[in-house]
Amino acid sequence: MRLTINGKSQDVDADPTTPLLWVIRENVGLTGTKYGCGVAQCGACTVHINGLPVRSCSIPASAAVGAKITTIEGLASGSKLHKVQKAWLDHDVPQCGYCQSGMIMAVAALLKSNPKPTDADIDAAITNICRCGTFQQVREAIHMAAKAAA
Ligand code: FES
Ligand code: FES
Repeated sequence: MRLTINGKSQDVDADPTTPLLWVIRENVGLTGTKYGCGVAQCGACTVHINGLPVRSCSIPASAAVGAKITTIEGLASGSKLHKVQKAWLDHDVPQCGYCQSGMIMAVAALLKSNPKPTDADIDAAITNICRCGTFQQVREAIHMAAKAAA
């Protein structure tokens, strides 16, 4: 399969039915995207496909052929952090950090489609699970990122 990940097109030698998450981690070596539940519930594995958030544990890699895949490693523009990453740092959101790459990818997609989300919008869109309970920090950092310039 030929996959385009973070702007780089590459041939990947994997069974097309392999979940995209494992191809990203094992074949391509980008380990920022995490495995949590494997059944599309926790959001730890969230990446963007053509700008939309997708739980990569639950789609076959073949579904992403021809699309633009973005992982947490590709979210910043060179050395310039994405505004969500910056808000996360400024607001000290992560605890253990395990869920946070998926959380950040989900939030980046939300702010693209809804630049000024309300708390209700956030609750509806960000269903990622954080075992450390960073939900309040996440919400505050989303509002902080929404106020920041792109
Ligand atoms: S690992 Fe994909 S949603 Fe939990
Ligand atoms: S920061 Fe630990 S699971 Fe979310």
